[in-house]
Amino acid sequence: MSVTEQPAPGTGPDEAQEQLRDRISADSLTTRRDYLRIVATVSGGLAVGGLGVASGILHRHGDTETLPEARKVTDRLDPGQSVAFRYPGEEDRAVAVRLSDGTLVGYSAVCTHLACAVLWREDRGPEGELYCPCHEGVFDARTGEVTAGPPPRPLPRVFLTEQLDGSVWAIATARSGEPAKDALCRQFGDSRPEVAQRLGCPDATRATETGRT
Ligand code: FES
Repeated sequence: MSVTEQPAPGTGPDEAQEQLRDRISADSLTTRRDYLRIVATVSGGLAVGGLGVASGILHRHGDTETLPEARKVTDRLDPGQSVAFRYPGEEDRAVAVRLSDGTLVGYSAVCTHLACAVLWREDRGPEGELYCPCHEGVFDARTGEVTAGPPPRPLPRVFLTEQLDGSVWAIATARSGEPAKDALCRQFGDSRPEVAQRLGCPDATRATETGRT
C-alpha cells in the first residue's frame, strides 16, 4: 500500500500558506494530548483496552472540551505498508508505517521544511524512508529524525496502537523532537503529581516529598 494523499510538489502562495498553517497546527495541538503518552510510557505501549484508560485520564484531568478522540487509521497494516490519514484534526495530515521488522510508527506527514507532504518510500534506504519530494528532504522512518535535505526538525510523532483484530489507531501526538518524558513531566508535574511521580519526573518527586513534610 502506498500513501494515498500526495499533493503536487509545486504549490501556489495560498496553498503554501495553508500548508504552513497545517504544520503549525500539527505542532501546537500536541500539548493537550501529552497526557496520553503517560499510558504509553508507563506501560510500554497501549495494549488492548489502553484507549479506555487513556480516556479516563483525560476525564480526570477535567479537560473534556479538548478530549482527543482515538481514530482508527486502518483495519490492517502489513510490513512495508503505509497509510495516509488525518490526525488529530481533519486537516492534520499524518502517515502510519509498518516497518519490515513489524514496528509500527506514525508521524505528521507535513514536512518541517516548507510543509509539503511527506511520503513513505519503501524502496529508499535500508528499511525505507519518509521522503519529501519538494526539496529532497529525508526522515528516518524509525525515529522521524532528519537524515538528509533542508528540513530543520524531525517529524512530529503520532502515537499508534494496534488492537487484537489488527486494526491500527492513532491516539496521541508529540511535538517535533520532544522527548515523551519531558513533555509529560512538563504538563503533569504540577497538576497530576502522582502520575508525574510514576514517570520519575524530578519535580514531581520533590513536590511529593515537600508535601509530605
Ligand atoms: S518542503 Fe520538504 S524538503 Fe522542503
